[in-house]
Amino acid sequence: MDLRQSCRRQKPSWHNAPVESFGDITARILIVGLAPGLRGANRTGRPFTGDSAGLYLFTMLRRFGLASGNYREDGDDDIQLADVRITNAVRCLPPANKPVAAEINACRPFLAAEIAAMPNLDIILTLGRLAHDATLRGIGQRPASVPFGHAKDRAIDLQGHVIRIISSYHCSRYNTQTGRLTDEMFAEIFQMITGPETSVAS
Ligand code: URA
Repeated sequence: MDLRQSCRRQKPSWHNAPVESFGDITARILIVGLAPGLRGANRTGRPFTGDSAGLYLFTMLRRFGLASGNYREDGDDDIQLADVRITNAVRCLPPANKPVAAEINACRPFLAAEIAAMPNLDIILTLGRLAHDATLRGIGQRPASVPFGHAKDRAIDLQGHVIRIISSYHCSRYNTQTGRLTDEMFAEIFQMITGPETSVAS
């Protein structure tokens, strides 16, 4: 039995299906994560909703005025993204939370279509190396031409339309607990997007 079927059996009330992007297609900023987490997006059906990575991301978005309203772990909330859309490189829960190359490749057309469908796209924030490399491949670039690095900000020409690709370590529990991604480091990423902190919500 495949993972999705077994999740559906064990947790019939969960989403257990491909997770669609969250936020307006007309947004200027696209955040690309890795894949739905088991008890996060795979449960709630909304990217970055229900796990610690999501709580951290939505907290930061609110802090920098890129989201308003209240976030709840079950997604039954009124959070609104401001000029931001959130998606994942991989659309379904990967086995052992680790997407393999075949899965990333299979999902690439969806990511490429997602990027192409955003008429006002200015900035892509990639969370983690995997999302970064998948995004580059999705826009027809070799990852080696724009290597992943935390707080790197590069301009890319998308057929005459220049966008910025900003890369960050992923805001996973592992990265925050080990100190690979500190609060200061993550805040720096949002400063790069919005300019100096405006501190809208606590
Ligand atoms: N939840 C997501 O939707 N994506 C991630 O990369 C991590 C958690």
